[in-house]
Amino acid sequence: MLTNADLEKIVDTNDQWIMDRTGIRERHIADPDVATSDMAYEAAKIAIANRGIAPTDIDVIIVCTVTPDMLFPATACLVQHKLGAKGAWGFDLIAACSGFIFGLTTAVQFVRAGAHQRVLVIGADTMSRIIDYTDRSTCVLFGDGAGAMIVEAAEDDEPGFIGHLNEIDGSGGDYLKMPAGGSRMPASLETVQNRLHYVKQDGQNVFKYAVRKMFEVCRDLLATHGLTAADVKVIIPHQANRRIIMAAADRLGMTEDQLIINIDRYGNTTAATIPLATQDAIRAGKLKKGDLVLFAAVGAGFTVGANLWRWGY
Ligand SMILES: CC(C)(COP(=O)(O)OP(=O)(O)OC[C@H]1O[C@@H](n2cnc3c(N)ncnc32)[C@H](O)[C@@H]1OP(=O)(O)O)[C@@H](O)C(=O)NCCC(=O)NCCS
Repeated sequence: MLTNADLEKIVDTNDQWIMDRTGIRERHIADPDVATSDMAYEAAKIAIANRGIAPTDIDVIIVCTVTPDMLFPATACLVQHKLGAKGAWGFDLIAACSGFIFGLTTAVQFVRAGAHQRVLVIGADTMSRIIDYTDRSTCVLFGDGAGAMIVEAAEDDEPGFIGHLNEIDGSGGDYLKMPAGGSRMPASLETVQNRLHYVKQDGQNVFKYAVRKMFEVCRDLLATHGLTAADVKVIIPHQANRRIIMAAADRLGMTEDQLIINIDRYGNTTAATIPLATQDAIRAGKLKKGDLVLFAAVGAGFTVGANLWRWGY
């Protein structure tokens, strides 16, 4: 656990600033010997046990992450092996904070096409490995975590998945990125000395874009289906900043009761925020079978996504 008080000892910051500007109180940090595939595996085990199936019942594994154990092999392969999910195929999906929504959307296409029965979608990120703990403007924001869901065909005629609206806008790519470690700027002594293997962010530009797009993507997806925010039981937004969520919710006209916010306890766990917040919603009795739920996220890329579901669990 990394609290605001802990961060006060590391960088020039304070609890008041972090709470006021972000809504974050504490974040979970993985132990040094824990990597993304380890957390992904734990989350997957829980999802599989909750569904009462065996790992061998999984056909596809999609690991949404920007912090894979290695550039290759894919973290999906590592998770498949740990789970003993023999017969499954899978891949990693990079869409940063929109990763889990893009993963769900992808999973739905496999199931709808009749190509596969069950797709395991995991959102997992060990952000602490790519965060610069000398940069106060980013290190207060992120935490580590993982969550998983299983997408499968509904047993009754009621459709679970209602629709999606996903976008990418590469013109915003420079505002949030990890510059080194890929083919553009391979690791070297110089890249390490210049701290280029860490997250670099233009916070204000990301903030403005996120507030606008979070609202627009929700409004437009709902409108496509002849719905408004009032028809939704809960919105489970990506947890990047409490102010982004509140601004979007305000414009949508959503009540506090419809909102799931747990950023205070986890920070921004990138691809893991949505499954983690969904679990909290279920535990709080705010999301039950048959409820209309809207997932929405904006992230690095830029990536933007929203999924509308009638909850089936
Ligand atoms: C990062 C973020 C919280 C910064 O909040 P902000 O209100 O935009 O703050 P600014 O960047 O304008 O900085 C205001 C001041 O606070 C300072 N500051 C930045 N981080 C600070 C910290 N952790 N503690 C104290 N002061 C801090 C800045 O240096 C600046 O000081 P100055 O006015 O003397 O120059 C905000 O921009 C944000 O949330 N952006 C989006 C991030 C995000 O969602 N990323 C993931 C996308 S999925």
